[in-house]
Amino acid sequence: MSTLLFASTQRTIGWVLASVVLVGMGVYLLFSFRIGKREVGSEIDLAPNRVRHADDDELETRFLDRNLAWSLVMLTVVSLILPIYWLMEPARQDNAAYGWVKRFEGRGARTFEEACVSCHGPGGVGGVAQFTIADADGGFVAQVEWKAPALTTVLSRFDESEVRRILDYGRPGTPMPAWGLPGGGPLTSQQVHQLVVYLRSIQLTPEEAAAEVTSGLQFGARGIVTARDPGLTDADDIDAAIEAWLAQAADPSSSDYAAYGELLFNNPAAQGANSCARCHTPGFSYGASSKEATAELMAEWPRLAEAGVLTGYRPGAGHVGPALVGIETHFPTAGGHEDFVRTGSEVGAGYGNARPGTGAMPGFGGRTDDLDVIGTVVRSRILTPEQIAAIVAYERSL
Ligand code: HEC
Ligand code: HEC
Repeated sequence: MSTLLFASTQRTIGWVLASVVLVGMGVYLLFSFRIGKREVGSEIDLAPNRVRHADDDELETRFLDRNLAWSLVMLTVVSLILPIYWLMEPARQDNAAYGWVKRFEGRGARTFEEACVSCHGPGGVGGVAQFTIADADGGFVAQVEWKAPALTTVLSRFDESEVRRILDYGRPGTPMPAWGLPGGGPLTSQQVHQLVVYLRSIQLTPEEAAAEVTSGLQFGARGIVTARDPGLTDADDIDAAIEAWLAQAADPSSSDYAAYGELLFNNPAAQGANSCARCHTPGFSYGASSKEATAELMAEWPRLAEAGVLTGYRPGAGHVGPALVGIETHFPTAGGHEDFVRTGSEVGAGYGNARPGTGAMPGFGGRTDDLDVIGTVVRSRILTPEQIAAIVAYERSL
C-alpha cells in the first residue's frame, strides 16, 4: 500500500513541476511581448544595435557575476536531478510491476467470479458440483454431489506451475473441467496466470490453516466421543470430551492413534481440501466417507456397483492418486513416507521406490516459492510433522 502511495506522490510532484513550468512560460511570454502595454507608435523602435546597453565596467562585474551565479544554480539542479532520478528509478519500476500484479489480481478475481464460483464458492471457500458419473461406454451411472475443495490453501500444497497445470487440463474423472487452451478449455494462458495471481490473494494465514485442520478433527472426534458415551448431551461437556480425546489420541502410544490418523486422512473441513481421502479413497468426494454412508450411496445408485465405479468403502484404495495398500514396498521406512507427504511429488521427478511423479500429489508441510516481482513467499503448512506421522502410521496400517 505504502509503495502505491509513493507512486502517486511521485506523480503529484510531476504534475506540480509541469504546472510551474507552464505558468512560468505564460508569464515569460506576457512580459517579453508586453502584451497590452504597447502605445500607439511604439512599433517604431530603435534598431537593437542602436539601443544603448551597459558599458564594459558593468558587463565585466555585475552582469558577469549574475550570469555565473545562474550557471551555478542550473548546474546544481542538473547534477542533482540525475542522481535523484537514478536513485528513484528502481522503486518506480518496482511500483509499476507491483501495479501490474494488482491489476492481474483484479482480472483474475473477475474470471473467478464468472467461471469458478459456482463450484468453489465465493472467495474459493469450497462448494459442491453436480456431477453425472458415466460408465466406460458413456452410459448413465449416477447423479452425485461432488465436493469442490476450498482453494484457500491450494498454494501451500502445490507450486504455482502445478496449479496452472490443474487449471489447464482439469482433473479427469472428476467435475473439475479443463480451463486452459492446452486442455481444450476457453481461457488463455494469461487468464490462467491471472487466476493463479488471484488465488495468491485468498490464501489463509498459518493460524487460519491450522484452525481449519483442527475444526475438521473436532468434527470427527465429536462422532467418536458421542458414540462411546451416549450419555453426553451438554454442549460444554461434549467440547471438553473432544479436547480430551484429541489430546490423548495424538500420542503415538495411544490406542486411539490410528483413529486419529484416520480422522486426519478423512478431514472433512473446507470440503475435504486438506484430506487425503478425496484423492485416495474411491467415492469419498461424493459421500463414500464411511461404511454406512457408502452402503447408503450404493443402495441409492445400484449402477455404481454394477459399473464397478464404487464397490464398497475401501479407504486408500485409489482414485486420483494410487492405491495406498502395501505402501511399504514403495516406502520401506516411515521416515521416507513422511518426507513424501510433506513435500508431495514433482513433475517428472522420481519418488519413493523410483516411481515417476506427475506433480499431482500435493505436499502438506508448507512450501517456499520464488515468484517474480513478489520475491520469496512462504506458504503455510497444512499439517504439523506430528500430524503427518499420524497419517503415515494409519496409511501403513491399511
Ligand atoms: C463444475 C464445477 C467446477 C468448476 C466450474 C470449477 N471447478 Fe475446480 N474443481 C472442481 C472439483 C469437484 C474439484 C476437485 C476434484 C477432485 O475431486 O479431485 C476441483 C479442483 C480444483 C483445483 C485443485 C484443488 C486441489 O486442492 O486439489 C483447483 C486449483 C481448481 N479446481 C481451480 C478452479 C478454478 C480456478 C476454476 C475456475 C476457472 C474452477 N476450479 C472451476 C469443480 C469445479
Ligand atoms: C489432489 C489429490 C491428492 C491428495 C489430496 C493426496 N494425494 Fe497422495 N497422491 C496423489 C497422486 C496423484 C499420487 C501419485 C504421485 C504422482 O502422480 O506424482 C499420490 C501418491 C501418494 C503416495 C505414494 C503412493 C505410491 O505408492 O506411489 C502416498 C504415500 C500418498 N499419496 C499419501 C497421501 C497423503 C498422506 C495424503 C493426505 C495428507 C494425500 N496423499 C493426499 C494425489 C493426492
